[in-house]
Amino acid sequence: MDTIAFNNLIDPCNRRLNYLRISITDRCNLRCAYCLPCEDVPRLAHEAVLRYEEILRIVRVGVRLGISKVRVTGGEPLVRKGVIGFLSELSRIPEIQDLSLTTNGVLLKDHLEALKSAGVSRINISLDTLNPERYRSITGIDAFHAVWEGIRAAQAMGFRPIKLNVVALNGINDDELVDLAGLSLEFPFHVRFIEFMPIGQSRIETRSPLLVPDIQKRIGVLGKLVPIERAEMDGPAHRYRFEGASGEIGFIPAISHQFCRRCNRLRLTASGQLRPCLLSDRQEDLKGPLRRGCSDADLAEVFFNATRHKPADHNLAVGEPAHVCCQMRSIGG
Ligand code: 5AD
Ligand code: SF4
Repeated sequence: MDTIAFNNLIDPCNRRLNYLRISITDRCNLRCAYCLPCEDVPRLAHEAVLRYEEILRIVRVGVRLGISKVRVTGGEPLVRKGVIGFLSELSRIPEIQDLSLTTNGVLLKDHLEALKSAGVSRINISLDTLNPERYRSITGIDAFHAVWEGIRAAQAMGFRPIKLNVVALNGINDDELVDLAGLSLEFPFHVRFIEFMPIGQSRIETRSPLLVPDIQKRIGVLGKLVPIERAEMDGPAHRYRFEGASGEIGFIPAISHQFCRRCNRLRLTASGQLRPCLLSDRQEDLKGPLRRGCSDADLAEVFFNATRHKPADHNLAVGEPAHVCCQMRSIGG
């Protein structure tokens, strides 16, 4: 390994980037309406996807630059072979203080034991509805019960926190927001409402997005939402709890409110591109130099380049959808 001292990643807005989200595959076993367009999008070829050893090398450079929080996403990460071994390797990197997984939950139940042994206890699961029929119409697959069983089993096995991601969509699940929020009263789950972002070509109409102030008003019928103080590692979610609840409510106001000011993230795509912003198509190539045999210092330089180009904020405004070309499932949400 190079002996040069690596600095932390500080961007032009003075944000310290210490959080790396890694998409390990663009494949997914669901077809969510807000994620995929009608026609099939071409998948990455096998050789185009970073191998686990390649990702680990990138992460080992990243931690020398101050990365201390890593989330593994997809597509659906549990569909990629070897994911458990990869997660165990990640959890053995001492500088990573926070390792988590985002999954759609379909394959979760059968992976829980292995995830636990691999050192992963923080999981985010996408759950946009509690109605099995609607689940099928949103995701294309009849898997609600599998997901729900996975969530309950994770809870029983002591996974904490269990975050449930709800993309709030007018005309699709807006009538269920109260029920979904109510899960935080009954269970220790963190239910997080995400504003729909027009990323890639999805099948969702964006003219009247459902925004956080409206969501807050609707779920307010369940009681008073008490703000929770922000913790160091917190992302863009605004955290609350209903009085007396064991779980939490989070809001991710991607559109209505600038969450960019406290964004500490970089994203590694399945094809080895480093993206400083989810909502911009700018990316820096890591795979090319890596496969040409570059040094760790060269890889660090790619991290610095991405950091220099992190935009101050995104250009999505209410009523002005700006499409990002790359599909969400290859960037990793
Ligand atoms: N807007 C908002 N959230 C999205 N997700 C996927 N696509 C979008 C979108 N266009 C969510 C998924 C998942 C998380 C990683 O991102 O529901 O929970
Ligand atoms: Fe798959 Fe997630 Fe996209 Fe749904 S949102 S199709 S679960 S990648």
